[in-house]
Amino acid sequence: MPKIKQMEARLADMIAAGEVVDRPASVVKELVENAFDADATIIDVEIENVGMTSIRVTDNGTGMDAEDARMACLRHATSKISRDIDLSHIHTLGFRGEALAAIASVSRVTLKTRLKGQEGYEVNIDGGHLTFEGAAALNPGTDIVVKDLFFNTPARFKHIKSEQSERHQIIDVFDRMAMSRPFVRMTLSIDQTVIRRTLGNHDMTALIDQIHGKNASRGITIIDTDVNKVGIKAYLLSPEQNRARNKDITVFINGRHISNYVLTQAVRDGYHGHLMVNRYPIAIIYLSIDPSLVDVNVHPQKRQVRLVNEAVVGYHLETHIRDRLSDQRHHILRPLEQQDDHETIKVQSLFIEESDASEDKRDEAPAQLKIPEADYVGTYAGTYLLFQNNDGLYLIDQHAAQERIRYEYYYDALADPLFATKPLLIPYEPTLKPSDIETLIHARGTLLSYGFELTEEGLISAIPTWLKDTEIDKSLESMADMLENKHTIDLRVLRDHLAKDISCKGAIKANHPLSRQEINQLMRDLRTCKNPYRCPHGRPTIILLSLYDIEKMFKRVV
Ligand SMILES: Nc1ncnc2c1ncn2[C@@H]1O[C@H](COP(=O)(O)OP(=O)(O)OP(=O)(O)O)[C@@H](O)[C@H]1O
Ligand SMILES: [Mg+2]
Repeated sequence: MPKIKQMEARLADMIAAGEVVDRPASVVKELVENAFDADATIIDVEIENVGMTSIRVTDNGTGMDAEDARMACLRHATSKISRDIDLSHIHTLGFRGEALAAIASVSRVTLKTRLKGQEGYEVNIDGGHLTFEGAAALNPGTDIVVKDLFFNTPARFKHIKSEQSERHQIIDVFDRMAMSRPFVRMTLSIDQTVIRRTLGNHDMTALIDQIHGKNASRGITIIDTDVNKVGIKAYLLSPEQNRARNKDITVFINGRHISNYVLTQAVRDGYHGHLMVNRYPIAIIYLSIDPSLVDVNVHPQKRQVRLVNEAVVGYHLETHIRDRLSDQRHHILRPLEQQDDHETIKVQSLFIEESDASEDKRDEAPAQLKIPEADYVGTYAGTYLLFQNNDGLYLIDQHAAQERIRYEYYYDALADPLFATKPLLIPYEPTLKPSDIETLIHARGTLLSYGFELTEEGLISAIPTWLKDTEIDKSLESMADMLENKHTIDLRVLRDHLAKDISCKGAIKANHPLSRQEINQLMRDLRTCKNPYRCPHGRPTIILLSLYDIEKMFKRVV
């Protein structure tokens, strides 16, 4: 007797359901995606009891006829693709034809739908069984109610985490969907309370403020560009708005939210130097890429994608973000300042966007004095230099300030295309991991163009003139790291890394008293920096407490 039998369709659906709908939030995601695919412009999501009692999604999209309504809940029923060639040109969010069937196999679904100019139709499915069908009254579009989720799969039911975490997941999914279609009007209500209401008018700042908090979009930087046929539109929140985790770097490819390590890391690297260690930026990135270069058929939930030339896209993303953020006007940090300059900042960032951000513009030194003249008052805790003038009291972190000075010195030194080398009398054997030495030997030609001469055995026979003998290992390590992780060598990134590492190592430490002469020199040097306000790792070098701020603390003014 043969033992292998074809599985009953309903059982197969339940198995698929395990992959596609693992929690209420994934039901919300699938239903809203279907509404997007049906070109809806208004979508309402209503949740009861974190979705375990009911999830309802109403849309004003194309709707379905009676036949399609019945078919829709069957496995492998999709209107979106029919031939294998279609798989490489996916323009819709759905294509697997299994989401509705999977949902209907583990819940009780009431599907009402109506094509424009036709009568509405209703289909009820209970744990995968059709229990009712007939005419229904509704506006053109589709109205799906999913009740009693996982009622017939008790193990999954139990697996659902705390109410709080499910609620977060639902809001999170909704927010990403809303961001993916800023032109669709969407509402989310949970237990009869409206949690989100988007305007559907493309107003990204309003959307960002609603999702990330009031005024979150203040000082936002917008990138809108095309590189090698890849459209990049990015909304970069000011580095001051940052998070402890990287879940607020949101990337969409062709309108689909995806999770992709390389791209997320590229965004983070682009913000490098503007954020402190272990802090993550908030950014919303829209990439438009030829669908044939994107494989979305990797995972049942369609979150992972494979991207041809992923590293190149990441590289462009990182470079554009870095360039635009360093174009930003920097200023002295005023931690107690009432920020009421929202409008001005917005106008400025728009202005930068319209002008042609050319390469050399970035290196121009602004005319005005970046750090005003002030009188030295004293040093606090052997670390903070205090100055005063009519504007208020300045605190300067001497370590951070010197790091900045050294960073810019090395950054410029490294920029010299004619790297003069100095030969070493005795070839130096670097104390690096063997794998790093291997990497460097491979890239000998490139290293030579930076002034490092490497023998075939991995000994250093000459170094750039600007490099101190004590900093050889550090520089080689940075270069090996770059070569391994980025595969490509970007001169500017290399300069940045090297300059950062070297500057940090040699900078004066905190708690090291400086003479008056050293203080004066430090201030002179800091004033000549292109961005004297932050150390290369993003920490402030200088803080201003204005007279107003101080009087406010003493409650002299309100
Ligand atoms: N809100 C809706 N409006 C109009 N048609 C819909 C709607 N929801 C589903 N459909 C129809 O039902 C079909 C099945 O939906 P289902 O979500 O199961 O599969 P899919 O979207 O094609 O693929 P995937 O499983 O990847 O989501 C869709 O192809 C579409 O034709
Ligand atoms: Mg779908």
